[in-house]
Amino acid sequence: MNAEQFAEHYWASLHKYLDDPNEVQRSTAYELGRHALADGLGVLDIAAAHYGALQRVLSARARRAIPGAVIKAANEFFAECLSPFEISYRGAREGARAWQHLNEALENEAKRIAHALHDEAGQLLASVHFAVADMAGELPPQSRARLQEVKSLLNRIETELRDLSHELHPTVLDRLGLLPALQFLAESVTKRAGIPITLKGGEPGRLPPVVEITLYRIVQEALNNVLKHAQASSASIELKVGPQRVSCTIRDNGVGFAAERIQHTDGLGLAGIRERLNALGGSLHFVSKPKRGTALRAEVPKGR
Ligand SMILES: Nc1ncnc2c1ncn2[C@@H]1O[C@H](COP(=O)(O)OP(=O)(O)O)[C@@H](O)[C@H]1O
Ligand SMILES: [Mg+2]
Repeated sequence: MNAEQFAEHYWASLHKYLDDPNEVQRSTAYELGRHALADGLGVLDIAAAHYGALQRVLSARARRAIPGAVIKAANEFFAECLSPFEISYRGAREGARAWQHLNEALENEAKRIAHALHDEAGQLLASVHFAVADMAGELPPQSRARLQEVKSLLNRIETELRDLSHELHPTVLDRLGLLPALQFLAESVTKRAGIPITLKGGEPGRLPPVVEITLYRIVQEALNNVLKHAQASSASIELKVGPQRVSCTIRDNGVGFAAERIQHTDGLGLAGIRERLNALGGSLHFVSKPKRGTALRAEVPKGR
C-alpha cells in the first residue's frame, strides 16, 4: 500500500465511522495504522491522509455547520490510526534502554576481569619473581642462564596480561578521562601496527562514564577497522567539544568503501556502534569514497 492508496482507504473508513461511530468501525482505524506501519508509511503520511479526508468531509457538508461531535469522532479515528506507531515507538525506546543496560553490564564485567588480571594475577607473578630471585642464589652458576630464560618468559607474560587488561578496560579512562585514554590508545595502536595515529582536540573535562566509555569503544572499533580493512598508511582522531555535544572523528587515508556496505554487512562493529550511540541520543556519520579513505564521525550529547 502506498501513500495514495492509504489516503483512499483512510477516507472511506473515516467516512463510514463518522456516519456511525461504533467500536467495530473504530477498530478499522487501528488495522489501517497497522498496515501503514508494516508497509513503511510514516506518521506524516497518516497526518496528510487525515487532513485530506477532513477537507473532503468539510466540502461535502458545504456551508452546513460541523457539529462538535463529528470533530471529536474524527480526532478519535485519527488517534486510533496512529496508535500502532505509538506502540512501536515505545517498543523501540524500551529496546534501546535494554541495549544500554546490557552494554553497561558487559562493561562492568570487562572491568572486573581487567582488574583481576591486572591486580591479582599481577601480584601472583610478582611473588613468582621473588621466588625465582631467591632460587638464583642457591643454584650453581651453569643453571643461572636457564633461570634467566624463566625470568624473561615471566616478563613477557606480565606484559601480555597488562596489555590484555588495558584492552578489556582502560583504567586510564577511569582515572584521567577521555583525552588521555585516547592518547594512550593511539600510542599503543601506533606501536602495534606501525602506522602513525595522531590525536588532536579539546579537553572535554570529565563526562558521564557511559559517554566516555562509549566514545572510547567507538574509537577502538574504528581503529580496528582501519587496521583490518583500510590498508591505510596513517590515521587521525579528532575530538571536538561543544557546549551540548561531543563529537569524535576517525579518519584514515586507506582504500575507502561504499557506505551501502554498512547496511549489508555481517560485521557487528559498525552496527554495534550505531546502536550504542542511538541509546545515548547520539548519531553516526560517514564519509567514505573508494580510494579516498574513510572518515567516521560519532556525535553524542554531553550529559545523560
Ligand atoms: N576504515 C575502513 N576502511 C575500509 N573499509 C572499512 C573501514 N571500516 C569499515 N569498513 C568496511 O565496512 C565493513 C563493516 O565493518 P564492521 O561493521 O566493523 O564489521 P567487520 O569489521 O567485523 O567486518 C567492513 O567489513 C569493511 O568492508
Ligand atoms: Mg569491525
